[in-house]
Amino acid sequence: MSITIKTDEEVALMKEAGKIVAKTHELLESMVKPGISTFDLDKAAKEYILSCKAIPSFKDYNGYPANICASINEEVVHGIPSKKRILHEGDIISIDIGAYYKGFHGDAARTHGVGEISSEARQLIDVTKQSFFEGLKVIKEGNHLHQISSAIQKYVEENGYSVVRDLVGHGIGRELHEEPQVPNYKIIGRGPKLLKNMVIAVEPMINSGRYEVRWLGDNWTVVTMDGSLSAHYENTILITEDGYELLTI
Ligand code: MF3
Ligand code: CO
Repeated sequence: MSITIKTDEEVALMKEAGKIVAKTHELLESMVKPGISTFDLDKAAKEYILSCKAIPSFKDYNGYPANICASINEEVVHGIPSKKRILHEGDIISIDIGAYYKGFHGDAARTHGVGEISSEARQLIDVTKQSFFEGLKVIKEGNHLHQISSAIQKYVEENGYSVVRDLVGHGIGRELHEEPQVPNYKIIGRGPKLLKNMVIAVEPMINSGRYEVRWLGDNWTVVTMDGSLSAHYENTILITEDGYELLTI
């Protein structure tokens, strides 16, 4: 399938899906404390999303067994929630949430500190979030997709961190993952032109150490190869005539 350009009616529905994701993140952020399990977060997200008459996007996606992804410390993405995974003071947790509402998906991720965290961990979280906003600065109609990728990579590497290569952002709409792929690092070519009513999920995954990752035996959880910390920040973004709108904030 090629890149989809949404109608204004479809954009209106995507805004509603995005708002549900944003609200679910607010709820979970308030729950992130030492002692809570990632299962508790998953359950709260599921209940809230269903109460909005939406469906968690990730459940059963390619066989994914939970409602959200909850990835702790050296886990990059796709950590599977579990009663056995309890948050401890000083951990960092990346929470990724998708909601499907009236035929459209919203998708966003945040990394939070659990209680007091080290200044190194705080800096990784802040640089990851800021790299997303550096990418946004080059979003306007007529610019090209890989300008976003390059802007993210430049900021991350200037700050001494590394960009995960094996996972990328994506177009989003009726499908959770649509074209185009949105890498967070420079690749050959300019990429497609950004057009009004394209919707993309930009999601830098940033490691404090080297960029290489590996998959755990559950075939989902992605961890840093060197055991260093990793952070994630993602929003669903509508391209507009004069810039963009964030649908999941
Ligand atoms: N935000 C992630 C992504 O865009 C979540 C996918 S988890 C999955 O790829 F389970 F749905 F695969
Ligand atoms: Co995504």
